[in-house]
Amino acid sequence: MARHRRALGYWGVMLALYLSLWLGATLAPPPWLHATMLFAHLASIIIGLGAAVFLEYNGLLWMMRRRTLADLRHTERSVSPLAWLGIIGLFASGAFLQPNLEDPLTVIKMAAVLLVAMNGIAMTRLTEELARLPAHVPFATIPPRVRLWCVWSAVVSQAGWWTAVVIGMLNTAVR
Ligand code: HEM
Repeated sequence: MARHRRALGYWGVMLALYLSLWLGATLAPPPWLHATMLFAHLASIIIGLGAAVFLEYNGLLWMMRRRTLADLRHTERSVSPLAWLGIIGLFASGAFLQPNLEDPLTVIKMAAVLLVAMNGIAMTRLTEELARLPAHVPFATIPPRVRLWCVWSAVVSQAGWWTAVVIGMLNTAVR
């Protein structure tokens, strides 16, 4: 069941990005709408990136034995909806900002956006795996495969978010 939901999630993400880019190529919003959506874009970054940084920071605290796995799971349950809210907000607002897909940097940004969202879906599998471990297990004693998986997921998430943020800023700066 969870596998099916995840498969749906991957397809949903691809469809949402496609729709957002398609709308972006079609719509020509008036300046007031563009400005409003730029504000919504920035607010969504604060919410989405903030949630991702907070979650991965708590993962780091678990690695350093400053948090238990139970604490991390609790954090994950409360911030995941915020991360998704941010991503949905970015897809929706980006559709009104006229993305220029002829610019190679924008294409890289969209690849980073896709990576962030796909990684978010893939992380639900990691969450299930962690839920099978004892609530107070230290990071250092979990199976090496799961340890690597945790680090990899966090690195992919942060690399994807920051790539998209930096390119978004660069694109605006050179306009
Ligand atoms: C993880 C997801 C995303 C992040 C972190 C992100 C980040 C950013 C940032 C930091 C800016 C610069 C805003 C400013 O300095 O004023 C920006 C602008 C922009 N973003 Fe995104 N973005 C994301 C997703 C998207 C998506 C999905 C689209 C379109 C489908 C999009 C289209 C645009 C466009 C067209 C601009 C330029 C706006 C302008 O200057 O008028 N972004 N983004």
